[in-house]
Amino acid sequence: MSLNLEPELDGFAWWQRGVVYQIYPRSFQDSNGDGVGDLAGITRRLDYLRWLGVDAIWLSPVYTSPMADFGYDVSDYTGIDPLFGTLGDFDHLLAETHRRGMKLIMDFVPNHTSDQHPWFLEARASKDSPKRDWYIWRDPMPSGAPPNNWLSEFGGAAWTLDDITGQYYYHAYLPQQPDLNWRNPAVRDAVHTALRFWLDRGVDGFRLDTIHHLFEDEAFRDNPPNPDFRVGLAPTLAFTRTHQVDLPEVQDVIAGFRRITDAYGARVLVGEAYLPLEKVMAYYGTPERPGVHLPFNFHLIGAAWKASFIADLIAHYDGLLPPGRWPNWVLGNHDRARVASRVEPANAPLAAMLLLTLRGTPTLYYGDELGLTNVDIPPERVRDPWELRVPGFGFGRDPVRTPMPWDNTRHGGFTNSEPWLPLNSDIGAKNVETQRGDPKSLLRLVRDLIALRRRTPALSVGSYGIIESRGDVLVYERLWGGQRLTVFLNFAATTVYTPLAQGAVLLSTAGARAGESVNNLLCLRPHEGLVVETPQHAESDETP
Ligand code: NOJ
Repeated sequence: MSLNLEPELDGFAWWQRGVVYQIYPRSFQDSNGDGVGDLAGITRRLDYLRWLGVDAIWLSPVYTSPMADFGYDVSDYTGIDPLFGTLGDFDHLLAETHRRGMKLIMDFVPNHTSDQHPWFLEARASKDSPKRDWYIWRDPMPSGAPPNNWLSEFGGAAWTLDDITGQYYYHAYLPQQPDLNWRNPAVRDAVHTALRFWLDRGVDGFRLDTIHHLFEDEAFRDNPPNPDFRVGLAPTLAFTRTHQVDLPEVQDVIAGFRRITDAYGARVLVGEAYLPLEKVMAYYGTPERPGVHLPFNFHLIGAAWKASFIADLIAHYDGLLPPGRWPNWVLGNHDRARVASRVEPANAPLAAMLLLTLRGTPTLYYGDELGLTNVDIPPERVRDPWELRVPGFGFGRDPVRTPMPWDNTRHGGFTNSEPWLPLNSDIGAKNVETQRGDPKSLLRLVRDLIALRRRTPALSVGSYGIIESRGDVLVYERLWGGQRLTVFLNFAATTVYTPLAQGAVLLSTAGARAGESVNNLLCLRPHEGLVVETPQHAESDETP
């Protein structure tokens, strides 16, 4: 066994080698007793993140906001909302993050502002306002109806009539989130100024919110009906988003963002675009018109939890990547069901091993390292505007945004007053303190996986060898230099044997097997994942 402890990986950027950890600031740590997390709270918990071993933190928005969409409705791109603290608190968090050798990525929301942003207040004041064209306005149809059939992602028409001027304005999300008009160069300049503001303070990059939504069809044509629409689906899915998303003009704007960040050196741009993988690839850009470094790959989130399906997904994604572009994987975030609920708790360790052994930058969502599942939210405590506007279709995001359980005390050490959302009811087993002390916990496994990834170039930056499924077992190899690691993930609830000529176990999801050597046959326990070091040139193993 020849594991290099601190590999020199010159030539790979930090955002390629590292693991990103997403924090939902409202729910990480409250420091002032108002039941909502804040920046000082995050600073207090940095040592935990250092202990866990992550390389970068991505913060969901902390900008000044009326919080109609909990910070994704920004009313000042260069301010910190008082709920989260001050600019001084932010600078302190950034400095302390850097002091611990970690990076800080900010969320940035270029598609829309809050309807309380001074730009929009000025734009809506009159049709002649100099800022009128910073947003998207259309006259009503003769009947008074909205200008076309476009729908909001959060339900209802994507148009709201402005009583003052008698025109509709466009919003891809809430009426409180009017879309900026990216065809106006003044908008571009203003947003660039905001990006520079944060880069000058030293942030290490941005996660760009919903970038596929930046442009809409200039002729405002109606969208076609959704051919997959059927009774029982939410009415918001009745039409496709053809003329609302993924227009080619988006790529020029991203190239502009890229030019700005590149001027600051080793920064990263991550892009959020919920699109089919084939379309996601365009967001890497081209050599002449660079895109984001990491267009999020969300496709594990909707994946069927089957070895063959995931093997195909991995191979398909890797095959689509343009030359020289870096992959990434997301298993959970603040918008989608918790991974431990999607795959069932018994599979949560397997899912963690999958995320942390695939080729490409992993993004780990806070609390997934503890195996948090979706938390039941009583109807009177529902806060998410999506659920409130389109109730009953399972869109609600509160269940995945609940406070981080740090210990088993009242409110889990998150706050000393009533938390803004309830905590998980299984806090006795799922809290940081308890799992930290238990070598068999998911938290300890996640930490071990991150550590293994860090010291093993085959895992952090290596290429793939085979990627296949053998019945219920997903198998893939990671190669670097003379090293070959093989990952075996048993999706079945039964013990499975698979041939393996020779190998040494590095890590198991199911107890201490490290150091065990394998000759001819590998035994996988129910739902067990294993990372095995296998000689580079051994005969390929046969499917049973
Ligand atoms: C995507 C974000 O992840 C989501 O939380 C938000 O509601 C929408 N964009 C609108 O900004």
